[in-house]
Amino acid sequence: MKLRPKLCIGISLAPTWLSGEGWRLDGSGIEGLYSSDFALETAQRAEAAHLDFAFRPDASFLPLAIMDQSFGFSSLDATLLMTSVARETRRIGLVTTISTTFGHPYQAARQLMSLHWLSKGRAGWNVVTALQGNENFGVAEMPSSDARYLRAREFTDVVRKLWSSFPSGALLVDRETGRYADTDLILPINHRGQGFEVKGPLNLPAFPGPGIPLMQAGGSATGIDFAGEVADMVFGMTPDLATAQQMRSQLSARAVAHRRAPRDIRLLPGLSLYLAPTREEARALFQDNHRRVGRAQRLQRIQEAIGLDLSSWPDDRRLTPADLPKTHHSMRSASHRALLQRIVSDTQPTVAELLARPEILSSVHWQIVGTPEDAAREIAVWHDAGAIDGFIAVPGGSPESLRLTLEDLVPRLVSDGRFRRDYAGDTFFSHLTED
Ligand SMILES: Cc1cc2nc3c(=O)[nH]c(=O)nc-3n(C[C@H](O)[C@H](O)[C@H](O)COP(=O)(O)O)c2cc1C
Repeated sequence: MKLRPKLCIGISLAPTWLSGEGWRLDGSGIEGLYSSDFALETAQRAEAAHLDFAFRPDASFLPLAIMDQSFGFSSLDATLLMTSVARETRRIGLVTTISTTFGHPYQAARQLMSLHWLSKGRAGWNVVTALQGNENFGVAEMPSSDARYLRAREFTDVVRKLWSSFPSGALLVDRETGRYADTDLILPINHRGQGFEVKGPLNLPAFPGPGIPLMQAGGSATGIDFAGEVADMVFGMTPDLATAQQMRSQLSARAVAHRRAPRDIRLLPGLSLYLAPTREEARALFQDNHRRVGRAQRLQRIQEAIGLDLSSWPDDRRLTPADLPKTHHSMRSASHRALLQRIVSDTQPTVAELLARPEILSSVHWQIVGTPEDAAREIAVWHDAGAIDGFIAVPGGSPESLRLTLEDLVPRLVSDGRFRRDYAGDTFFSHLTED
């Protein structure tokens, strides 16, 4: 049973529709990638479709291998970018990504509350523990997943305390008496924890309105428990319906364990959409988009995820669960490692079959390659099964695929009664509390 009648829909502003070969298409606009207009145009089109939020993933490292062929992880800073989008949009939520592994909570609290003010109540925070980048912050080795989540809990706790430390009600701004603020209400937080010592208060009052919704990205048991405690939304990596159903029920259980209602947390899987007017065109778009991902890159992706070097294996040799290394510090997420391990265990593929899987080739997200009608139908199945509460659209292949997502797929979901016809409010939280 679905927990809410309406879907919550976000769109990634990482221009996934230009990755692979997409940027090479005429009119892709790639030359403007590092301008604010680029993301702004997508955010405005998403606002015209009444999406809940636009979202910018972010990372602090640059894998060079892919830069030869595409823009990879090169990008403007997510929060600065969202700030420029804030001025030119009115109602859509703006979710930025800030890692809890390398930054400091005082700085994060201030940046996020600044974005909240500048967007008049539309900021959201994608809390990530990050996968790489330690060497850019003087950290010799990437901390373990458990260590990262321990820090993430404390970091998030400090950020929230700082947001409450200077409540908007403390602002008096009384010209007659000359009192600007009631300092009795602006309190230090005096936080002394394992990772941080922060006195507070924050040097910025809270925005007078609903707060900043939190999104969490990370699918391990610890990640799901963390989400159960703090998240309003989870950016999930659920490539099939069974995985989404499992994650949804785990999230519900962890929410209840933290004395919250299951519907307080929305599971929003990334949804890779290769859309075209016909299925044949969509399939061709997908194949064409990955034509330069060669054997060496595919082998490397497998090795990074599950620690198995298949470079000397013959194509027709089958993999079995016994081949899987028992321990491996995955350079990708635990969720990705689990996904590939499941594929090996469930299907015992040959090397050639594994190399051809879309999960290796492309996004490890839920993937629909077809028409907007196909996509609307499959989304309805997942929604009705109670597996998802919405999705984050990650259009792929071409700018046309993005256009079809916003101008064909979303209207279908509206006429199906699964998505709003118009916004009811102006803040991000108001979109999340419509039903
Ligand atoms: C769907 C999804 C999106 C993510 N997005 C980001 C991101 O934008 N930036 C980042 O540094 N890490 C990102 N991560 C990495 C997570 O924050 C986390 O470090 C990683 O998934 C390991 O946690 P896990 O083992 O719980 O999955 C993402 C993870 C997932 C599953």
